[in-house]
Amino acid sequence: MSPHVNSAAAVVAAFLVFAAHLYFPANGHLNSATTPLLGVLSDLTVSSFPFCPLTVSSTTTDHQYGCKYNPLCDDFPPDFPPPDTPAVSVFCVDPNGCCDFTTVQAAVDAIPNHSRKRNVVWINKGIYFEKVTIPASKPNITFQGQGFDLTAIAWNDTAKSANGTFYSASVSIFATGFVAKNISFINVAPIPRPGAVDAQAVAIRINGDQAAFWGCGFFGAQDTLHDDRGRHYFKECFIQGSIDFIFGDARSLYENCRLISIADPVPSGQRSITGSVTAHARVSENDNTGYSFVNCSIGGTGWIWLGRAWRPYSRVVFAYTSMSDIIASEGWNDWNDPSRDQTVFYGEYKCTGEGANLAKRVPYAQKLSDVQVLPYLNTSFIDGDQWLQPYCDALISA
Ligand SMILES: *[C@@H]1O[C@H](CO)[C@@H](O)[C@H](O)[C@H]1NC(C)=O
Ligand SMILES: *[C@@H]1O[C@H](CO)[C@@H](O)[C@H](O)[C@H]1NC(C)=O
Ligand SMILES: *[C@@H]1O[C@H](CO)[C@@H](O)[C@H](O)[C@H]1NC(C)=O
Ligand SMILES: *[C@@H]1O[C@H](CO)[C@@H](O)[C@H](O)[C@H]1NC(C)=O
Ligand SMILES: *[C@@H]1O[C@H](CO)[C@@H](O)[C@H](O)[C@H]1NC(C)=O
Ligand SMILES: *[C@@H]1O[C@H](CO)[C@@H](O)[C@H](O)[C@H]1NC(C)=O
Ligand SMILES: *[C@@H]1O[C@H](CO)[C@@H](O)[C@H](O)[C@H]1NC(C)=O
Repeated sequence: MSPHVNSAAAVVAAFLVFAAHLYFPANGHLNSATTPLLGVLSDLTVSSFPFCPLTVSSTTTDHQYGCKYNPLCDDFPPDFPPPDTPAVSVFCVDPNGCCDFTTVQAAVDAIPNHSRKRNVVWINKGIYFEKVTIPASKPNITFQGQGFDLTAIAWNDTAKSANGTFYSASVSIFATGFVAKNISFINVAPIPRPGAVDAQAVAIRINGDQAAFWGCGFFGAQDTLHDDRGRHYFKECFIQGSIDFIFGDARSLYENCRLISIADPVPSGQRSITGSVTAHARVSENDNTGYSFVNCSIGGTGWIWLGRAWRPYSRVVFAYTSMSDIIASEGWNDWNDPSRDQTVFYGEYKCTGEGANLAKRVPYAQKLSDVQVLPYLNTSFIDGDQWLQPYCDALISA
């Protein structure tokens, strides 16, 4: 990987994607693992035993072996999943058949429509190669993984194969109240070469309101995270991409996240743009959508903008964020439409690092004052008091 990728987590993540790309479709290379993580992923992706799904009896939670003994299940917690409670049901997914479901979509399909409970899909370690959709009729679902480097859902659609960028997502969320913890969402379509057409490949599309992500990974290249609609919260997440890798018209707060660019490196001295972190799509002055990044870091490769104006009222703020020297000195772009210079809202506040130098920013970039930045700094930006805290409580009790 490139020496420009400058943190341990970036290297871990890069290997994750590297491994995913190698494995899908050609998994032979994984056997020559050269790093521990690659070794771990190799174990995760090789299914060494035929499936032998276990059935869970309705009266006890003991696992009943439906067919022959499956030694992969020896370490599986015998009393898992726990029985339903009035508030929570757990749907257990394990790729080796050690509990009720072997695919994430099968578990989602089993969740009742319009359930009043929180339905937790507990997903064991593994890379799940499937396209997953949560329809609007299934609110309040949690995906609980085992770590963003241990549990991942991956697929490889592109704008071309899916008939449009919006349909290329490996995972699509149309329901309200979705929560994900310690899991990664990956699109493993080949990284597009410059000039490639219809190669956008979304890892996740979040179209439902009130979604929260803790300790999650989002991996792709062009258009990784379709932060489409609604109020969303991202905490301690890892987001990798190249061009417009966080895009859409949501109102979202990103706290303590790492943003890693894999945009094409540019030779030193050359200043051609190879990517953009965001492409926010606010369409009107009356909309309260926007992306706020607080205490995040930006690193990786390329010469990239912080954002470009997909729609005229695009709104993005970076506060207390460290930016490496990959951030283009002009900072932002108006999508080649100078009229948008009057309508976008692009703010920066107390950012650090070589990329945070405001001296050569475009004229419409704003250095926010202590007062101007206040609405963007905490979960009030996404009305967190109305919805986020109850979800946290529900999660803890789950
Ligand atoms: C996704 O991967 C499969 C398996 O290698 C391959 O057959 C398919 O063409 C790929 N799809 C795209 C859109 O690249
Ligand atoms: C949910 O509703 C859809 C569409 O009406 C239906 O196809 C599906 O079977 C329902 N799922 C469950 C688990 O009831
Ligand atoms: C989803 O969960 C929230 C918070 O626990 C709750 O207020 C809401 O009623 C739930 N929604 C549905 C449709 O059950
Ligand atoms: C996520 O995984 C980390 C490391 O394994 C663990 O410490 C943490 O409690 C987990 N958090 C959630 C929300 O699952
Ligand atoms: C995309 O559109 C073409 C032509 O209309 C159709 O044949 C194909 O099935 C569609 N593919 C998907 C994934 O919807
Ligand atoms: C900022 O983010 C770093 C790295 O994620 C974390 O260690 C630190 O606690 C965060 N600071 C605040 C004030 O949240
Ligand atoms: C967020 O900041 C605003 C403005 O400083 C403050 O009024 C509000 O109480 C804070 N909300 C939370 C949840 O900390």
